[in-house]
Amino acid sequence: MSIVRLKIDGKEITSEKNTTILQAATNAGIKIPTLCYHERLNPIGSCRLCVVEIAGYDEPVTACNTPVLEGIEVVTNSDSLYRMRQESLKLLLVHHPLDCPICDKAGECTLQDLVFEYGIQIENYKAPEKPVEAVYATPLIKYWPDRCVMCLRCVTACREIKAAHALDVAKTGGTANLVFHPDRCVSCGECMQLCPVGALTENVSRMKSRSFIVNKVPTTCTYCGCGCQMELHVLNNQVVNVTGKNDIGVNHGSLCVKGRFGYEFIASDQRLTKPLVKRNGKFEEAGWDEALNLVAKRFSQIKNENGPDAIGGFASARCTNEDNFIFQKFMRAVIGTNNVDHCARL
Ligand code: SF4
Ligand code: SF4
Ligand code: SF4
Ligand code: FES
Repeated sequence: MSIVRLKIDGKEITSEKNTTILQAATNAGIKIPTLCYHERLNPIGSCRLCVVEIAGYDEPVTACNTPVLEGIEVVTNSDSLYRMRQESLKLLLVHHPLDCPICDKAGECTLQDLVFEYGIQIENYKAPEKPVEAVYATPLIKYWPDRCVMCLRCVTACREIKAAHALDVAKTGGTANLVFHPDRCVSCGECMQLCPVGALTENVSRMKSRSFIVNKVPTTCTYCGCGCQMELHVLNNQVVNVTGKNDIGVNHGSLCVKGRFGYEFIASDQRLTKPLVKRNGKFEEAGWDEALNLVAKRFSQIKNENGPDAIGGFASARCTNEDNFIFQKFMRAVIGTNNVDHCARL
């Protein structure tokens, strides 16, 4: 491993050779503002908010995609950098309405925080509205073209993390816009999770809650055995949204379509809450004692008349490992058969 020495804001720093100025600064506890950068993606370099000065260089460079070099002296904050970042933000706001009061992202929006930090009070520049078709690659996500700041995190996430290539960019400059390939989209929501602003919002729970009033409960997804870590956003005892959490668990923040969007069943009034027993060819509600006694009686009858191998049990990949363990134990030790399987092989 090759180490280089450099100075950032007067502080002597050592860093591995292949790191960027942004990574070296972050490791040293020095904050450089970013918008398009995300630690799970290769640097995009589209927003220019991470500009820094290097002594002896004519122009500032972007810290997120400039590697450290031996002996450089970096300045991350100066009047001129502050003004440049202000101008970059004003340009990002050219198409962007400040509709934070009705935006799902308010309270956890990088742009909102930066606009506040850099004291932008009015939208200085205006451009003609972009005639963009707002239908997204998946109906589970709503795309707000006017809020999109073309940071390209979504396109990069779809390509680098999901390898789905469902998003692209068309045109350049002020007329650039996203292009969708619905046939390639797997509705995973990775693009939405990494969008730093409210340009991609969830179509299942839209405006049912605000990020700052929900209770975020960490849990494990129950849809399959991967054990992805997620956060349930709970409001008034109801799950209103689900998000992954970066760098936590085997999934590192990613979720699939089921884990991210398939939560409405939790509060569905169609869920079974009582056992059903078939009487005269029709299922009817019954008490637990009645249902369990009936099952135990029928198992015993079948076992006595035809032997334990006349019974087979199918468990579910939706259950926890512990539930599935106890189920196979029940089939083997109580029923006496090895006829046990689960839904993934049906
Ligand atoms: S994306 Fe951010 S800045 Fe824009 S309206 Fe939504 S909360 Fe406000
Ligand atoms: S939902 Fe997933 S596959 Fe579809 S565009 Fe977004 S990242 Fe790509
Ligand atoms: S939709 Fe979001 S992530 Fe994609 S380019 Fe626009 S602002 Fe960036
Ligand atoms: S964070 Fe470096 S250019 Fe956007």
